[in-house]
Amino acid sequence: IIQDAAGHPLAQLYFQQGIGAQIAIGVAGFVALSVFVNVIQQLLFRNPTDPPLVFHWFPFIGSTVIYGMDPPKFFRDNRAKYGDVFTFVLLGKKTTVAVGPAGNDFILNGKLKDVNAEDIYTVLTTPVFGRDVVYDCPNAKLMEQKKFMKIALTTEAFRSYVPIISHEVTSYFKRTAAFKGKSGIVDIPKKMAEITIFTASHALQGSRIRNKFDESLADLYHDLDMGFTSINFVLHWAPLPWNRKRDQAQRTIAKIYMDTIKERKALGDEDNELDIMKHLMTSVYKNGTPVPDHEIAHMMIALLMAGQHSSSSTSSWIMLRLAQNPKVVEDLYQEQINALGADLPPLQYEDLAKLPLNQAIVKETLRLHAPIHSIMRAVKQPMPVPGTKYVIPPTHVLLAAPGVSGSDPNYFPNPFEWDPYRWLPGSPNAPLIAARNEEEEEKIDYGYGIVSKGAASPYLPFGAGRHRCIGEQFANLQLQTIIVETVRMFKLSNVDGSDKIVGTDYASLFSRPLEPAEIRWERRD
Ligand code: HEM
Repeated sequence: IIQDAAGHPLAQLYFQQGIGAQIAIGVAGFVALSVFVNVIQQLLFRNPTDPPLVFHWFPFIGSTVIYGMDPPKFFRDNRAKYGDVFTFVLLGKKTTVAVGPAGNDFILNGKLKDVNAEDIYTVLTTPVFGRDVVYDCPNAKLMEQKKFMKIALTTEAFRSYVPIISHEVTSYFKRTAAFKGKSGIVDIPKKMAEITIFTASHALQGSRIRNKFDESLADLYHDLDMGFTSINFVLHWAPLPWNRKRDQAQRTIAKIYMDTIKERKALGDEDNELDIMKHLMTSVYKNGTPVPDHEIAHMMIALLMAGQHSSSSTSSWIMLRLAQNPKVVEDLYQEQINALGADLPPLQYEDLAKLPLNQAIVKETLRLHAPIHSIMRAVKQPMPVPGTKYVIPPTHVLLAAPGVSGSDPNYFPNPFEWDPYRWLPGSPNAPLIAARNEEEEEKIDYGYGIVSKGAASPYLPFGAGRHRCIGEQFANLQLQTIIVETVRMFKLSNVDGSDKIVGTDYASLFSRPLEPAEIRWERRD
């Protein structure tokens, strides 16, 4: 018997190599055939009521890779080619994008019988938030839950939050090693993530929960967060290490919240904090059922997750933009001195309205860096697109991308310039949209309080319709307070003194700055 060096009979080796080659040829043939059929289908068979389909070579993969690399660019490029409504294949699913104010209105203000969010999101969110809340319940129940949370956010509550947030920010800067000394360089997203969670948990969930972030909660939330990634749209069920950690963390965090609820209930009137958790403890559904403790716990997780990713990405972009524009930091400092006095007294809620540039920083940063680039809905029945011949079938998913109109030169001159002054009177870059008149805007109540429909607005970083953000005012207050306190303490600049800005990381669920994203800080006297 003739053998190779490893002692295998050569006849067997040739046989194995032959099989291997045949399999490779078979696979290549199958791929070539499916590419051929896929291309022919796109070229020859088109339903006249279907929106144009973005051309792609491979079935299933479709445009997934090119979309995932830079979704806003993908939307802009294809809008230029196909118009405001077009379809692309995302992991085998035909996904129809509708952009511009009309597209935003079509999807976000869609009727409940036509569009549905929970069909898309529940696989990802329910293991993280827990049962019976948000997308693990009928939409009418979510509307009631949102109403409870929104009602808790009164002016009185906001007044109590500003000193809480101010104190959290200043004490963070004082105790954190990265901010010790006269000046230094810091990778800002990590720090902003911590500041966001300390400020949000303290204001919205009370001091008891906030204090637990110094002990167990920070690590547990980190584990929970690992389940909140795009890959889990597909692998949410898999017995993978990160999913096991997610489930364990969800149970432990929910128990911590439920124990805290019991403690607070026992305190009665002695507990005088104005957080959302406290408000939920006395909220009652329309059918007379008080909100059960496990639902309060799960809503608290949902609230912190929703707010954490979006606000921490935004505050990181704010710091990076300020470092790119050190002159704006000085203008902000001067604005505070002019409006509040040279001694810069402790910040109050009412002071924020006196600082228009400070407000404009948040607005402009959200225009260019909205953390949610794609908002998806399942289609429940054929939906004709007004003003077109298109009808979206229930086999498609709808995707709204309000950020597209936020960077459209028809509405925002020099759209890619980060220019907070465009929101102040007299700017040559002023938005080319009628000034908002809250009184005149079309109003609607989806069940969580009256909101303006936002139908004609090209600027919707907080969404619109029944799933619109209820955290908008809180996020504004939180971000504006963080800027005020940061500017009081530091001058900011880029590490190399240039006016560069890092790119965007679209790999996670919420877009955020690519890391490392370092800036230089210098303490004021
Ligand atoms: C919904 C953006 C902060 C709680 C949304 C939506 C957007 C958004 C675009 C609509 C999602 C959809 O239609 O599917 C933002 C941005 C924030 C922010 C840009 C900060 C800069 C917050 C905060 C909270 C919060 C701080 C909590 C206090 C919620 C909730 C919903 C929501 C409960 C409703 C989800 C639904 O009805 O399906 N947010 N958000 N958000 N957000 Fe925010």
